Amino acid sequence: MTELVRYDIRDGSAWITLDRAEVRNALSFDTLGRLQEIVDDVRDNPQVRVVLITAAGEKAFSAGADLKERAGFDEAKTVAFVKRIGDVFTAVASLPQPTIAVLNGVAFGGGLELALACDMRIGADDISMGLTETSLAIIPGAGGTQRLPAVVGVARAKEMILASRRIDAVEACSIGLLNRAVPRPQLVAAAEELAGAIAANGPLAVRAAKEAIDLIGSGKSMDENLLRERELYLERVLPSADRLEALAAFKAKRKPVFTGT
Ligand code: COA
Repeated sequence: MTELVRYDIRDGSAWITLDRAEVRNALSFDTLGRLQEIVDDVRDNPQVRVVLITAAGEKAFSAGADLKERAGFDEAKTVAFVKRIGDVFTAVASLPQPTIAVLNGVAFGGGLELALACDMRIGADDISMGLTETSLAIIPGAGGTQRLPAVVGVARAKEMILASRRIDAVEACSIGLLNRAVPRPQLVAAAEELAGAIAANGPLAVRAAKEAIDLIGSGKSMDENLLRERELYLERVLPSADRLEALAAFKAKRKPVFTGT
């Protein structure tokens, strides 16, 4: 029996690892409960500057909802599952820290929806992915119908979802679903490099910039979003000690040391 999801913090990065390789990291009710606990913990941890979500083994990031468990659910339990998976992925999407899905293997159904709840996606170059739910006579119910079109555009998302199409890493990169694909042995290093580049920047600025970008799709007007962007600049980063540190470091031709204040 594994602990379902592992969690450790290294160099300011929280690594969250789905740990059910034997069932291709399928998302069971308890796995999602554990993921929610970890996300709640990460959210309030000031040491964590970047969150990376990956999974055990080389075959799958996640094969999606645990279909064996699902077969034993009555309708009420299925309703509870759909609510839980949606809520957990929304919690991931609303983390204040930047999030990176590190796709060590295939991502189908809820597995890809989890990756879509992250800000960025990096994958091994031999993987495939898809929102394949309609082939099981269900629909993506944990954000996929909204988050996939937001990333790849409506027509491409419709093709993937309505035709249950699995795409490879090359195509995923070409449509922006993966930020980048790298040979498998370089995957962790590539993720660490991106996480390190983010963690080196002003922590308050990184969070404020993410919050501002996430206004896209909020349903508010461009004018309201631009006002909020200005507020974030003037209220969140302008008064920060890190901003003054960056100016001093520039003048002294040294690297800034940011404290997140
Ligand atoms: N839920 C529960 N168990 C799953 C699973 C899922 N979503 N996906 C795979 N498994 C289990 C298999 O039943 C198998 O268990 P077994 O050894 O007891 O038979 C084990 O994981 C390995 O699966 P297998 O298919 O042999 O591995 P693979 O590496 O050849 O293929 C996948 C992996 C992910 C490509 C394939 O399992 C698959 O297509 N799964 C369904 C994905 C899907 O449609 N998800 C959408 C959910 S909405």
